[in-house]
Amino acid sequence: MSRVPLPYSPKILELFRNPKNLGKMEDATVSAVAGSPACGDMIAFYLKISGDETIEKASFESYGCAANIATASITTEIVKGKRLKDAWKLSWKEVADAVGGLPTVKFHCGILSVGALRRAVREYYKTRSKPSWLPDELTVEEKHALEEEELAEVLSKKIGGKA
Ligand code: FES
Repeated sequence: MSRVPLPYSPKILELFRNPKNLGKMEDATVSAVAGSPACGDMIAFYLKISGDETIEKASFESYGCAANIATASITTEIVKGKRLKDAWKLSWKEVADAVGGLPTVKFHCGILSVGALRRAVREYYKTRSKPSWLPDELTVEEKHALEEEELAEVLSKKIGGKA
């Protein structure tokens, strides 16, 4: 069966071939992982945060598709130099726009990138007093990552049960 290639934007293809900020960060202040069992892919996000809550460096590791690598890479580029408060506001739609748009079946890949970023920001405040701009409720992007992880667990149990 032949596969129809996805209509990826040139920006996605460029970032997929030459991703910026790819790799584990040894001196990260915080890190977070998010998974997407819609496809079984995972992403890790690393942030180096300075004393005044500015993101000095951001990097990622992705075990995902081209859209995931591209959106994660652009996310690290966008948030670098931003205060955590401003980085938090970045939405998956802005990320999708920044890579020239995502095919509909790849929306979740961009959502996963922002979900991992937000998780890393929450991680930072786990050991610090929570600022007023950080909501108690999980955001759509975070919920998405969470729901998908729960789904994965159910699926892996089912698959495990059948083996
Ligand atoms: Fe898995 Fe894109 S298809 S992250």
